[in-house]
Amino acid sequence: MVGRKIDYNSVPSVDLQNNGNQKKYTVNRGSSGDISISKPVCALFVMGAIVLAAVAAVITYFLAPSCSGHSLPASLTRGRARIEEDEPSVKYISLPRSVVPVHYRLYILPKLETDFTTFGNVTIKLKINEKTDEILLNALDLKINEHSVSVRRLKDGKFIKVLGQKYIEDSQGYSIHLEQSLSVQDEYELFMEFTGTLNDYMVGFYRSHYFIKDSNTSISRWIASTQFSPTDARRAFPCFDEPSFKAKFTISIARPSNMSTLSNMPLKDSTVIASDNITWDNYNETPLMSSYLVAFTVHDFAPYRHGVNKSFKIWTRQNLLDYAQYAFEVGPRMLSFFENYFGIKYPLPKIDVVALPDFGFNAMENWGLITFRESGLLLDRLSSTISHNRAVSLTLGHELAHFWFGNLVTPKGWDDLWLKEGFSTYFEYLAVDKIHPDWQILDEFFYDQTYTAMRTDRFISSRPIHFKVENSNDIRQVFDAISYSKGASLVNQVANILGEDTFKEGLRKFLNNNSFANADHDDLWDALTEQAHIDGALDKNLSMRVIMKGWIDQAGFPVVTVTPDYEKNVLKFSQRRFILNGKVQTKSDESWWIPISYTTNNNTKLEDGKPKFWLDSYKEESVNLTHIQWYLVNLKQNYYIVNYDEKNWKALSDMIMYLPPVIRAQLVGDSMNLARAGIIDYSIPLNLIKVIGAHDRDIIFVPLELIFSETDFLYNILFNTPAFGVYEKYFWTIFNFPLETVDFDESPSERYIKKRIRRLVLPQACRKPNEKCAITARQIFRSWKDNNYRVFPNIRSVVYCTAIRDGDDEDWEFAYNQYLKALSVSEKQTILSALGCSSKHWMLSKYLEMMISNTSGIRKQDGSVVFDAVASNIYGHNLAFDFIRNKWKEINEYFGEGFRTVSRMVESLPTFMNTPEHLKQLEIFRDENKYNLKATNRAFTNTIEKVKTNIQWMKLNYKSVESWLKQQVQHYQI
Ligand code: BES
Ligand code: ZN
Repeated sequence: MVGRKIDYNSVPSVDLQNNGNQKKYTVNRGSSGDISISKPVCALFVMGAIVLAAVAAVITYFLAPSCSGHSLPASLTRGRARIEEDEPSVKYISLPRSVVPVHYRLYILPKLETDFTTFGNVTIKLKINEKTDEILLNALDLKINEHSVSVRRLKDGKFIKVLGQKYIEDSQGYSIHLEQSLSVQDEYELFMEFTGTLNDYMVGFYRSHYFIKDSNTSISRWIASTQFSPTDARRAFPCFDEPSFKAKFTISIARPSNMSTLSNMPLKDSTVIASDNITWDNYNETPLMSSYLVAFTVHDFAPYRHGVNKSFKIWTRQNLLDYAQYAFEVGPRMLSFFENYFGIKYPLPKIDVVALPDFGFNAMENWGLITFRESGLLLDRLSSTISHNRAVSLTLGHELAHFWFGNLVTPKGWDDLWLKEGFSTYFEYLAVDKIHPDWQILDEFFYDQTYTAMRTDRFISSRPIHFKVENSNDIRQVFDAISYSKGASLVNQVANILGEDTFKEGLRKFLNNNSFANADHDDLWDALTEQAHIDGALDKNLSMRVIMKGWIDQAGFPVVTVTPDYEKNVLKFSQRRFILNGKVQTKSDESWWIPISYTTNNNTKLEDGKPKFWLDSYKEESVNLTHIQWYLVNLKQNYYIVNYDEKNWKALSDMIMYLPPVIRAQLVGDSMNLARAGIIDYSIPLNLIKVIGAHDRDIIFVPLELIFSETDFLYNILFNTPAFGVYEKYFWTIFNFPLETVDFDESPSERYIKKRIRRLVLPQACRKPNEKCAITARQIFRSWKDNNYRVFPNIRSVVYCTAIRDGDDEDWEFAYNQYLKALSVSEKQTILSALGCSSKHWMLSKYLEMMISNTSGIRKQDGSVVFDAVASNIYGHNLAFDFIRNKWKEINEYFGEGFRTVSRMVESLPTFMNTPEHLKQLEIFRDENKYNLKATNRAFTNTIEKVKTNIQWMKLNYKSVESWLKQQVQHYQI
């Protein structure tokens, strides 16, 4: 249907042109007076629903309580649905601040039982900052009943005549032109009626579907929920949809009488309209908040342990209720941790947490009503893995942290997104550490966040964390590793610079100064500086603004090069931007204020992470020491890497087993980056890895996790080269101990870290189909298949993946049927990934087709899991690439634009791409496929640069790595 214009004969024609440069609005109204606002992606469902909407819904619509002083004329007939070939370019023009909302009174009625349209009206109380005759707000995919739009002056109830109205497609705006200017002395009320549709794209106000199964029937259920962040509140009701327009919201939602609703605030009362079998649920007024945090749901869920905790409830569909126990127990404890840490009580009276069958992200921090995808929240004690438990815990911590960083104090604009995402990502670790101190999760922060951020930030195509966003496509693309992981790493760096107490007090100041308002990074730096000066944590002539400027306004991170003069006992420090593709020139004026902490053989205090001095420009800094034998820099993993001289690398590798696990990981990570960029010899990191592999008899998780991610890179890039054989021999010899020692005998009571190790090592050990690991995995799978044997949760992914890789279509079908049957969301995820492990091309092709089929039982939200599983499989990679190229348009239409699903698919392509031919294909693909490129252009840029870097790696490093490996193999007679 796409590409064809829909022409309804009797559709009233609405001319949305702005004629000439005079502000003249021509709206040729038909009988309905509706202005239809539509985007291609939603046009399909709009079309069908619009036609059905009219008659049935009008009846109930009249029951929507009217707003004082406004009439409710509802004339709702069909509008024009427009479908276009290409994405219209969405220019993001900030709304003017001449008119700002103070309060919204919203009524909304979703027709869940008939045609999935929504009907609503909103009364927005307005404050005027500057005299104007235009009100500009946002609306998208809504039909606004133009007759209904009215503006009333509050002091005398007088209506201001509306001269014209128009939709401004470029900015998803709706403009109302008035006969008379609004005056700053007065307050006004804007009233609008609108209709919309519950969409299938998990954005705005959308519908979600599931089945209730009893013994022999399954009953179909529809529910509705919102996802407004970042810019989709405008799809549910007209509003000033930018974070800085904070207002209060009073919301009423209509529901079928046998369902329930939730919203940000507690329910005030309900009005039953018995004749229509609907009930209006009226909610209390919210505090001042941004539109992206508004939420409501209509469902037939139940709360876990009804009545036990009145202010913290977990809601799921009834048959999954038992899985809510963990979140129910942990959530309130995390909440009080944050209340104590920030010294500010959670300001709303309750928290509801809802697990939704269809949800685009893992979770969303709507104030008082957190929404999750089911797998993000629910834990099945019997089949959930430790990684899943950990993820649920971290996500819950993350969303609760947003109640302060994001909800109470909101970034002024999306360009400072990291101000909420970076902080929540940092604090999720603190919350989990509080709940599970035995997990020692803080040790995992470096790998999870800092090292991960650097993996994106080391490319020339990276972006500054503080980043101008111009439209809603840009906004969606900044929800990335830079905002989250670099953001969290910089927060960690700030905590290291200031020390824990000053950091905490400074944050309290920042939060208190800006509560129920908006802030930018300078507000943060000022609060921290003030506190740091009081505490003496920062020199009086230094400020956090100056120190942090380079870190947030420049892309990338520095490499600090240390050059010692062993005779004179001097260490010289210098900096420049680190780029993985070392040849690329960077701007010569780029520099950072780098907090340098170090220790040497004279003083082995590893805990002192406070900066000993600042390396603040291209100038070299020298430090005089006594009798240097070795030295170590960046003791608390701040956001930079260190290049030592060769002698020191050697010294550090000799003592690496005496250093804490996080520092071991850091040294491997830093040296691998430097070697890949051609700055140091590859033998340095390979040697570090060898020492750890050969000596670590405790199988310490943190360094091993990072090492395996680096060796995975070598495995993938060498896979099709002559060096693969020596690489494999070498890897198996060095890591013989963990590969042979870690087994499948999980005991339910074993410690967190043991389970993590099992899940880390077994997939490596099972890579060879004829080795013990793979043989055992296949046996376990067979017992499951033939005898219904219960496989321990933490070995399931490796067992399923290995058996499916080495198995036949019958094994695959068996696993797929288990996927369909499984109730546990954890189990479903595990199987979904494992299904992509097959080595049979036809099965992988079939699987990719299923990913975009409505009838496969695979939900849209899981599309990128399927794609990634196939693309990261050596046997599936080419298929995945062909599939996305051939079905680009179909894929984009199926998944919609709300999430980074398609971007994530593009980003999983480069793993095995390292030839100029690959690069050419990728560039042609990008250049020929204009469709929806705006939402994925950043993903393409990143991916292309990764492939270029892989090609360069082959040129620069292949030979030296191969010869080093050969030497080792000869030397050890492997
Ligand atoms: N605010 C985000 C959800 C979000 C992401 C909304 C992108 C709009 C656009 C939420 O707090 C979040 O960050 N969720 C993460 C989980 C978290 C543990 C990193 C997610 O859903 O992946
Ligand atoms: Zn977040």
